[in-house]
Amino acid sequence: MIKRIPSLVFIFFLVVVANAQETNKMIVDATSSTAVINKNIYGHFAEHLGRCIYDGIWVGKDSKIPNINGYRTDIINALKEMKIPVLRWPGGCFADTYHWKDGIGPINERAKMMNYHWGGVVENNTFGTHEFLNLCEMLGCEPYISANVGSGSVVEMTQWIEYMNSDKDVPMANLRRQNGREKPWNVKFLGVGNESWGCGGNMTPDYYVNLLRNYSEMAGIYGQWKLQQIGCGANGADYNWTEVVMKQRPGAMSGLSLHYYTIAGPDWGNKTAATGFEKKFYFSGLEKALKINELIEKHSAIMDKYDPKKQIGLMVDEWGIWTDVEPGTEPGFLFQQNSIRDALIASLTLNSFNNHADRVKMANIAQTINVLQSVILTEGSKMVLTPTYYVFKMYAVHQDAKLLPSQLIGESYEMDGKKIPALSSSVSEDKNGNVHLTISNLNPDKDISLSVELVGKSFGKVNSASVLTAPDYNSYNSFEKPATVKPTDFRNYKITGPSTLNLTIPSKSVLVLEIM
Ligand code: AHR
Repeated sequence: MIKRIPSLVFIFFLVVVANAQETNKMIVDATSSTAVINKNIYGHFAEHLGRCIYDGIWVGKDSKIPNINGYRTDIINALKEMKIPVLRWPGGCFADTYHWKDGIGPINERAKMMNYHWGGVVENNTFGTHEFLNLCEMLGCEPYISANVGSGSVVEMTQWIEYMNSDKDVPMANLRRQNGREKPWNVKFLGVGNESWGCGGNMTPDYYVNLLRNYSEMAGIYGQWKLQQIGCGANGADYNWTEVVMKQRPGAMSGLSLHYYTIAGPDWGNKTAATGFEKKFYFSGLEKALKINELIEKHSAIMDKYDPKKQIGLMVDEWGIWTDVEPGTEPGFLFQQNSIRDALIASLTLNSFNNHADRVKMANIAQTINVLQSVILTEGSKMVLTPTYYVFKMYAVHQDAKLLPSQLIGESYEMDGKKIPALSSSVSEDKNGNVHLTISNLNPDKDISLSVELVGKSFGKVNSASVLTAPDYNSYNSFEKPATVKPTDFRNYKITGPSTLNLTIPSKSVLVLEIM
């Protein structure tokens, strides 16, 4: 049975029903889709920081660790299975100290440099432009290059563009050929500066936007206007930055970034541990991560003023939880573990990106391996998939699917007099007509029943359903016990009518269902 109910009516109906019956209710409108969920929302970030590149991605051809031309075989397979769509490199703060010509040519002749930001180690540039772009080819993902505006120059950036993308008989393309690569890589995404308000040059927005106009014009010319240029955006709630950059932006800018890190502790000096934390930091981690909704909405409102047709994407190119480093590890390497709480942070953040797919066109969690909210951790030849990895794998069904607007009226999760919504969700329809629901229950102590009503489509059957949960609110996967937090089949659902489904969602869990 196909029903059509105008949105306002069904929202009213939903509120009345939910209040009257004190139930949790979700209504999904399958009659109108407002946006496509850009697959690049599921992107990642790899910086020359700690053990992300070396040990994480790259071990070199002579390593005893199984590798394909120097790249760890286990990592390549895991990232492919997770369907990584885009990878940002080489930083981060590192990008604004990076000079790309140091990272090309025969490996043993490459210049060394100081990694000033991260642990003060000497970077030998073994992993450079060829190694990164060839990695992206192997993974089948788009490379996103972060250009050096802080300590680089327009010349350096334009030569890099020519090196990566030109197929002509010109100096940089010929240098690339001399280094063994005939075809250009045709890089699509270029970041013009990283955190230019901070480690990327400590600029004011007015100063930065002038530089952006200059770099952007030249990137456009050298890149033959094919590159999607991403301007440096705000640090969290710095709305003035967005206002100034949007107002004076260059015409070629197709994205503006946003960085937002979740700190579970009271401030940056007291971030709290990644494991063994108290329940109050489970709550505060989720509470602070939920701020992403407000940030997206307020930055989008400013962007709407200057770009009402929504042609410029909001690119959240650094996000995730940032905790204390693991005890005994180098503080500058930012190596942290990852718990079920962090998986829930990933799920509620990805739901938010999906639900704002009209404006959010890319996002890159920080960082892929062995740094901050990583999807994979390594120790020698061992590899562990974190709870966050499984969320990305479960949510891959949303990549390039149509967003179905949904409304969720549900209970709260309360702690110490504070409240957050207990449920988070998003819904999409893929090109085969399958509907995917991702729902998380943030309450660590209570299973929650939810009734889902699909408007404009009937439930045929549930094709598949899986759930990620854990024994405790701070459980994680260690190298000794790598399977503590892993998805399993979910069966606690019942189709109760042509377009109604009832579910009981376990405490502290992330759920994905495919319905046809
Ligand atoms: O992801 C770690 C660092 O956080 C990045 O290098 C920088 O851009 C941000 O401050």
